[in-house]
Amino acid sequence: MTSTTTQQGPQESRIFPSPAAFAAQATVSGMDAYNALCAEAAADYEGFWGRLAKENLVWQKPFTKVLNEDNAPFYKWFEDGHLNVSYNCLDRNLQNGNADKTAIIFEADDGKSVHVTYKELHEKVCKFANGLKSRGIKKGDRVIIYMSMSVEGVAAMQACARIGATHSVVFGGFSAKSLQERIIDAGAVAVITADEQMRGGKQLPLKAIVDEALALGGCDTIKDVIVYKRTGGNINFVAGRDLWLHDLVDKQSAECEPEWVDAEHPLFILYTSGSTGTPKGVQHSSGGYLLWAALTMKWSFDIKPNDVYWCTADIGWVTGHSYIAYGPTAVGATQVVFEGIPTFPNAGRFWDTIAKHKVSIFYTAPTAIRSLIKASDLDASVHPKNYDLSSVRLLGTVGEPINPEAWMWYYTQVGREVCPIVDTFWQTETGGHMITPLPGATPMVPGSCTLPLPGIMAAIVDESGADVPNGQGGILVVKRPWPSMIRTIWNNPDRFKSSYFPEELGGKMYLAGDGAIRNKDTGYFTITGRIDDVLNVSGHRMGTMEIESALVANPLVAEAAVVGKPDETTGESICAFVVLKQARPTGEDAKKLALELRNWVAKEIGPIAKPKEIRFGDNLPKTRSGKIMRRLLRVLAKGETITQDVSTLENPAILEQLKEAS
Ligand code: WT7
Repeated sequence: MTSTTTQQGPQESRIFPSPAAFAAQATVSGMDAYNALCAEAAADYEGFWGRLAKENLVWQKPFTKVLNEDNAPFYKWFEDGHLNVSYNCLDRNLQNGNADKTAIIFEADDGKSVHVTYKELHEKVCKFANGLKSRGIKKGDRVIIYMSMSVEGVAAMQACARIGATHSVVFGGFSAKSLQERIIDAGAVAVITADEQMRGGKQLPLKAIVDEALALGGCDTIKDVIVYKRTGGNINFVAGRDLWLHDLVDKQSAECEPEWVDAEHPLFILYTSGSTGTPKGVQHSSGGYLLWAALTMKWSFDIKPNDVYWCTADIGWVTGHSYIAYGPTAVGATQVVFEGIPTFPNAGRFWDTIAKHKVSIFYTAPTAIRSLIKASDLDASVHPKNYDLSSVRLLGTVGEPINPEAWMWYYTQVGREVCPIVDTFWQTETGGHMITPLPGATPMVPGSCTLPLPGIMAAIVDESGADVPNGQGGILVVKRPWPSMIRTIWNNPDRFKSSYFPEELGGKMYLAGDGAIRNKDTGYFTITGRIDDVLNVSGHRMGTMEIESALVANPLVAEAAVVGKPDETTGESICAFVVLKQARPTGEDAKKLALELRNWVAKEIGPIAKPKEIRFGDNLPKTRSGKIMRRLLRVLAKGETITQDVSTLENPAILEQLKEAS
């Protein structure tokens, strides 16, 4: 663990109060209301969470104990309560008058759209759940979902929840090898996939990658591969193993009694990158997780019955879990589920889709905003001003820091200066929002995620766990457990403890892995970046070690070191320094080999992990004890001159060679 010494850049002095008209109607209206909730949590932490869990979820058997800390950091929430997540997301809406309300507006890649009501979604999920049961899939089994954005993808997750099976969604952009590793680690019994996916007018394979993953071996636990027919493209079918989703569900009953589970029952495992080793299977609960997904829809997004909500994330990431599959349905919202990409048929797609479906709450990533700013600078016809965005009343961002310029553009050009922006800081491990403005209360500062949500005891400490004063950078921690927190790393409780509750910090503080600083005057948090070897490229999280292992797995590569480099559009980009077993290539040879290695990484991990830049060297900068000096490589990647002391280096001459591409 290294502490961040990064200080806040130029002090951001612009401050934007919550728009008055918005605040007047907001669920949490004004800072007094926010402070009152924080005070309630501070006065009686368990009472606060217990009240919220009773008010926001339907319990088949009420809990009597809120928090169990006996086996910390393996905290348990609402442990003797029973519930079913899919019941809370679907049946509850049938009972409270939302049966004919649109649950999902599916916006397909080609621009066609369909509306699915809560009643229809309930029926789809029940049939799906019965289909899974008919294959012998039951409570506690793990099911991999490798699907594109679709109603069926959401239904697959809900169907697993309904029968108490633990799902693990794998993003459709991950490679066969990544998929195989996750299948093995999860010990999954089935894979739910589609024949192909449509993205930007192109048909891309899914089922073929599942075939490849299973052919890599070691996936003997898999009994069924269930295939949703999306494109009708030509695919291979293995008799006895593969079956069409429609054949499985068509004959099933439209009623399926939910499997009531303990609040702590694992709803899902989602793999994410850490600083070392293979991806970690982040395990989430049913009760605590759903409570926070539902409640943050109300608090952070101020969701109301007439809203049309759109989160542009993919269900393969945690944002698509909490803020597509579970949160919106738990509160009976109408949401857009989008299959395509922001630039097809042109870079006005988001704005066009907002106008088409009268979207009122829009949630996307800073990378997407930055790339659409660029696109509209080049082609004025895709600028948001050409579209009727008058339906929008709230904007959100997620996944990475937003630079103040992009924030201002979003605020003025998309939000017409009347929409609050919620810059939501959170992580796969936190289950839901942690630090974010409340749209009807918190004055906004571009580039700052502002203040923790009520009940979230976020703080900034030094390497010994002691609080640091405002204005001084440090390590972001959470001092008390909260309901939607990660429960463990699947198959690896020791790694859970050492990654998130390190002894150096006393073993009881949750270590987020980010550096942060609080403003001296306002106490507002600004995230200064990861303090571990994790990169954030376009809001996607990647471990440098993972990419390095992929590179050295190539027979040509002797050694590799990967660092992040600031990038105007993607936030960070991947820069790899590579030593080949053969002589250092130059000119055309270097270009050819770089391309080959980039494609290799795409095949090993997935296209999102492709290094943007590869530099070849005869060696890497190392200390006398052989440790690679990544710190220096980061400076070289940025194109800056090294000013640090390099006297401890074994081979300082190598720095000259690695200054630029060979
Ligand atoms: C990491 C978590 C949050 C769901 C999607 C990404 C960075 C996330 C923000 C934000 C600055 C942010 C952090 C965090 N991050 N949101 N609003 N401002 N940084 O989840 O893949 O688990 O990544 O994303 O570095 O640790 P994830």
